Amino acid sequence: MADRTALLAALLSRQSVGAKHLADPGPDATQLRLMADAALHAPDHAGLVPFRFAVVRGAARERLAQLFAQAARDAGKSEPEAQIDAERAQRAPITVAVIARIDLGHTLVPSHEQWACVGGALTNFLNAAHALGFGGKMLSGAKVRHPAVQQAFCESGETLVGWIALGTPVKSPSRGGSKPGAADVLTDWPA
Ligand SMILES: Cc1cc2nc3c(=O)[nH]c(=O)nc-3n(C[C@H](O)[C@H](O)[C@H](O)COP(=O)(O)O)c2cc1C
Repeated sequence: MADRTALLAALLSRQSVGAKHLADPGPDATQLRLMADAALHAPDHAGLVPFRFAVVRGAARERLAQLFAQAARDAGKSEPEAQIDAERAQRAPITVAVIARIDLGHTLVPSHEQWACVGGALTNFLNAAHALGFGGKMLSGAKVRHPAVQQAFCESGETLVGWIALGTPVKSPSRGGSKPGAADVLTDWPA
């Protein structure tokens, strides 16, 4: 590897950047493929690839906005609130849906291992975005469980996890609170 220090520095400096702090340009097709390639390097027991990504760009952003507005109305929000949710759907230059495809009947790999792979995949995706100079944030909310939203993104047996908002960061993210230290999560298992 050319520069291990640079890799580690990139991993240690990644922070989520919310959609309101993202501007054009978003990643192009080549850069999105690199992010997907990074996701495919997540640990994956038996190589099941229990995830896929769906890129929302161009005219598809308007379709997502309509879905968000419908989910908001069905959740009892007012029309102005539904319009705010619709606007949110189009705030990031690129949105990437994260879709899990968990094989619940797999004889070797239980579902929790497949979910661990999905987490690794979306994390690798975000780290690759960061390494390429983009900002991003994984988002979900109650609307991911709205039947019309699930149906719009998922085939049978799939689960919509949420969306990664992607774009060029317009300001450095400020961390809301400090992260726990390594000592909080790394201990010796007693003999
Ligand atoms: C599957 C998933 C869904 C998430 N959904 C939301 C969300 O809807 N809203 C939100 O503010 N953060 C959400 N988060 C957390 C953010 O993506 C982010 O990780 C968190 O704000 C911490 O920031 P950091 O990544 O800079 O440490 C979600 C994270 C994951 C893994």
